[in-house]
Amino acid sequence: VLKLHKKKALRVLITGAAGQIGYALAPQVAVGSMLGADQPIILHLLDVEPAKNALEGLRMELVDGAYPLLEGVLTFTDVAAACKDVDVAVMVGGYPRKAGEERKDVMAKNVSIYQQQASALEANASRDVKVVVVANPANTNALILAENAPSIPRENITCLTRLDHNRALGQVAERTGAHVGCVKNVIIWGNHSSTQYPDVNHGTVAGKPIRAAVNDDAWLNGDFITTVQQRGAAIIKARGLSSALSAANAVCNHVRDWVRGTPAGAWTSMGVVSDGSYGVQAGLVYSYPVTCAGGKWKVVQGLSIDGPSRERLRVTEAELVEERDLALQCLAEKK
Ligand code: NAD
Ligand code: LMR
Repeated sequence: VLKLHKKKALRVLITGAAGQIGYALAPQVAVGSMLGADQPIILHLLDVEPAKNALEGLRMELVDGAYPLLEGVLTFTDVAAACKDVDVAVMVGGYPRKAGEERKDVMAKNVSIYQQQASALEANASRDVKVVVVANPANTNALILAENAPSIPRENITCLTRLDHNRALGQVAERTGAHVGCVKNVIIWGNHSSTQYPDVNHGTVAGKPIRAAVNDDAWLNGDFITTVQQRGAAIIKARGLSSALSAANAVCNHVRDWVRGTPAGAWTSMGVVSDGSYGVQAGLVYSYPVTCAGGKWKVVQGLSIDGPSRERLRVTEAELVEERDLALQCLAEKK
């Protein structure tokens, strides 16, 4: 057998793979955007039985992509089998919200999926599996997953707020005319919801503080924040469907930085199980600024938080407490 790659293939699970994000994400993983151009991949694609044909179509297209890094494409409708030995689990399976709904409106349907899938992951995945929850309500689904998979280390369970982080970078770049690659160190605090706080107070544009580069505090304290908070809804309104290619791109960015490290002098935003940093209730899945090295993330400590920012951190924390309680109530009612 011709051995094309020196590295051992890593197994990447995508749940809800027959959906929109799956369709955008699977080829990106196959070309190396998530784990690097030298890392062979075996894809595990999971969806529900009624989506079996669509899943098979995706498998056929991935085979037809003739991707050099792709050593296998396996499809599943059984969650335990899908989780077998996976190194990275991207949890996209669930139901997206529609126009006019808040992300927590899809709570009852989605949290029970995460309760069930937690046990399958715990029992079958690699001991060091890295999990990123994408399906909404993302933070609370991740919290339910963490609570129902006690043997997976807490720090291995995260949720996606990188899309919000990238949206904030994009807004500052558009406003200043700078290339987005010159904008650094924005922060998304809290929930992947309309209460999130996109914070520019520590960020820079080509080395200059964002506030000085933008030179319009009214915009930064007003429309900038609401645009980022409401961007998901704006995309649903424009496309009639929720964001998919930008979500898939953000998943690749999230896992890539986690596994291969954040660039020198820069941090990113990730939803992680809080250890109480910045006064946030421990145990909530809260988005923080983090740096990553050696496959581990660390919350950036010691940033100064002004009064209005502190209030915004608290508001999004309060929503997460409310969501957690609602999720636990939904799960208790299902029993
Ligand atoms: P979609 O409806 O196109 O796809 C979801 C897929 O999940 C479907 O194929 C469905 O059959 C499948 N599914 C449902 N229950 C499942 C289960 N129990 N096991 C496995 N698969 C299951 O939706 P989408 O647009 O791909 O979005 C997926 C989720 O991601 C939604 O909850 C959406 O709100 C969320 N989302 C999050 C972010 C973020 O930044 N965190 C961004 C975009 C979308
Ligand atoms: C997004 O932020 O685009 C997703 O969470 C989809 C949504 O419901 O907003």
